[in-house]
Amino acid sequence: MRILLLTHSFNSLAQRVYCELTELGHELSIEFDIGDEVSAEAVALFAPDLIVAPFLKRAIPESIWAKHVCLVVHPGIVGDRGPSALDWAIQHELPEWGVTVLQAEAVLDAGPVWAAGMFALRSAKKSSVYRNEVTEAAVLAVRVAVDRFQAVNFAPERVPGQAHPAMRQADRAIDWARHTSAAILARVNAADGFPGVADELFGQSLHVFDAWPEATLTGEPGSLLGRRASAVCRATVDGAIWIGHVRRPGGIKLPATLACPEAAELPELPLAELWKSPSATWQDISYEEVEGVGFLGFEFYNGAMSTSQCRRLTAAFAWAAARPTRVIVLRGGSDFWSNGIHLNTIEAAESPADESWANINAIDDLAEAILRCATQLTVAAVGGNAGAGGCFLARAADFVWVRDGVILNPHYKNMGNLFGSEFWTYLLPPRVGAEGARAIMRHRLPMTAREAVRLGFYDACLPGPGFAVDVARRAVELAAAPDFPSRLAEKLARREADEASRPLSAYRAGELGEMRRNFYGFDPSYHVARYHFVARTAHSWTPRHLARHRDLDWKMPE
Ligand code: COA
Repeated sequence: MRILLLTHSFNSLAQRVYCELTELGHELSIEFDIGDEVSAEAVALFAPDLIVAPFLKRAIPESIWAKHVCLVVHPGIVGDRGPSALDWAIQHELPEWGVTVLQAEAVLDAGPVWAAGMFALRSAKKSSVYRNEVTEAAVLAVRVAVDRFQAVNFAPERVPGQAHPAMRQADRAIDWARHTSAAILARVNAADGFPGVADELFGQSLHVFDAWPEATLTGEPGSLLGRRASAVCRATVDGAIWIGHVRRPGGIKLPATLACPEAAELPELPLAELWKSPSATWQDISYEEVEGVGFLGFEFYNGAMSTSQCRRLTAAFAWAAARPTRVIVLRGGSDFWSNGIHLNTIEAAESPADESWANINAIDDLAEAILRCATQLTVAAVGGNAGAGGCFLARAADFVWVRDGVILNPHYKNMGNLFGSEFWTYLLPPRVGAEGARAIMRHRLPMTAREAVRLGFYDACLPGPGFAVDVARRAVELAAAPDFPSRLAEKLARREADEASRPLSAYRAGELGEMRRNFYGFDPSYHVARYHFVARTAHSWTPRHLARHRDLDWKMPE
């Protein structure tokens, strides 16, 4: 079938639906929901058999739904209606929640139901539940709904429902003198990554995000107890919580200590034991060891890796490499493995060009440390999505095992034609061929975990449920294998041969030469694209590589 994706943006759920339906053999094109006339034009150009709306913020116009079946993904259970479905479920700490695929009609979320799915609701950030449970359930439900549409004989049923209002900041407000840590965590989680909870820090209004539990610290409710790296700790009536990120009025989302320079006055609250994990406190880098395997976790908000995070992680990696282990597993974070350099901290810097330069060098140092690791075999366990430099940072490891369901964007050009670094010119072509590498970079499309392994870019795609356990088992087996010494020797010999044919420094210099032009050259595209990305500017047109129906050579079907 020809399926038009009508979506507010090409977010991770829309990307996953796009990849899954394409893999099923459907022909897809995408239009961003910018205005009724633009959507109508897209429908006229593409003449779709079916319209699927994975992520919409407003109603589909009647002129479209009256003539075409439009399947809308609603992140709520059957019968739930309203724009804050997940927010209410998380804030009310419901034990389970769901996704419904319904047909667009005049009343929002009230059309006939084509498919639905349920899941246990974790106590986690809304964005995390959305990227994991909601996405998995939505992909299944969309597949079922598309099958039912194709089967022709399915009659979707209308169900009675209840509309819940949009959640306001008044509903989200934190009362530090009354709310428990768990209640505050639920409130911040329900508002993460958007819109955050309106609150105050250092006597100034701002929005807070990225709350973490704290198991031991206590103090006067509402008072700030201290800071650690980029987060601040605030006392509650029954303990304390950490706040990782804030957004000041008119500003962008930033690490709390960067957005609030006053935090420098707070006492530093170091971890009891550096890197050792995991404990109920704020800790973005963690390490644990099991049977000859070191597991290095890095839970960086949104997978963005700032200069200081890259440097701290490089130090942690060097420390892990000095341990008497045989394998290091780079675990990344639970939602994202890595999305490359930190575009928000770059935007906030006095000189974004200088900060871009520092950040790309810091992430390259980390990639180089992984590539040159001579003491262990390294594994990148990609359990969360990865984008741009993050995809190649993972490839710097000897093995990349990726969770089925992960979405990858191994290209840079969407960010103002950025050339990219992280040794991609060394790492990608041998895996997929020179032409394959050019195609991946040029097409700028998302890739599923399965596709990445099929192309030879990554090494193994492991089932979603039980991924962490599976990774641990395989890593322990790798460490215990009788041929471990010969595998390590082979790796060192390969690195030596590669170095002799063209040193890593030459690849790095080549990439950074191009990046220097991106950062300091006369073409400001990267700086403009980054500004719009961090400001979350609404789209005003759909990029041509997504809106295939707008290609000049696209032919209207017979
Ligand atoms: N730096 C800072 N923030 C980043 C980031 C980065 N490199 N990559 C993602 N984010 C943030 C987004 O701003 C967004 O923030 P929010 O919490 O305010 O919503 C959040 O992560 C999720 O990103 P979003 O784009 O909504 O997620 P997605 O899953 O739909 O898309 C990507 C994933 C990777 C395709 C997309 O985020 C992207 O293009 N990131 C930039 C990658 C890049 O160019 N890196 C620099 C070159 S190495």
